[in-house]
Amino acid sequence: MKITINGQSKDVEVAADTPLLWVIRDELNLKGTKFGCGMGLCGACTVHQNGVAIRSCITPVSAVAESSITTIEGIGNPESPHPLQEAWIRHNVPQCGYCQSGQLMSAAALLATNASPTDVDIVNAMSGNICRCGTYSRIKQAIHSAAKTVRQQS
Ligand code: FES
Ligand code: FES
Repeated sequence: MKITINGQSKDVEVAADTPLLWVIRDELNLKGTKFGCGMGLCGACTVHQNGVAIRSCITPVSAVAESSITTIEGIGNPESPHPLQEAWIRHNVPQCGYCQSGQLMSAAALLATNASPTDVDIVNAMSGNICRCGTYSRIKQAIHSAAKTVRQQS
């Protein structure tokens, strides 16, 4: 089947019920998206389907065939980082780092629809993303900081 990922159309030969996460990591070799719980509970595998944050571990690839999928590799790069990626560095957000691509993808989906999030908006948007290292307060600071950049750029 064909899927569109990070703006590119890709052919993948997998069963229709294969989890999207497997396709992203094992077929397309995009390793930034992480496997945590495999049950939709931790957020490590978060990607965007048409700009909305979804859990790729519980999403069959057949469910995204007509969609545009974005992974952490698609939101920015060292030459042209997303404002959130810059803020993550400024605020030294990651500790072990394992949860962070999922955190960034949930935060990016939030800022795409709300460039002035309150603390409550952030808590609600990020509540499905678990960080065993407890980086939550730095994540909140970095989202506020990136939101300011997004507002200045618009
Ligand atoms: S690995 Fe998908 S939510 Fe945990
Ligand atoms: S930085 Fe270690 S799990 Fe979040």
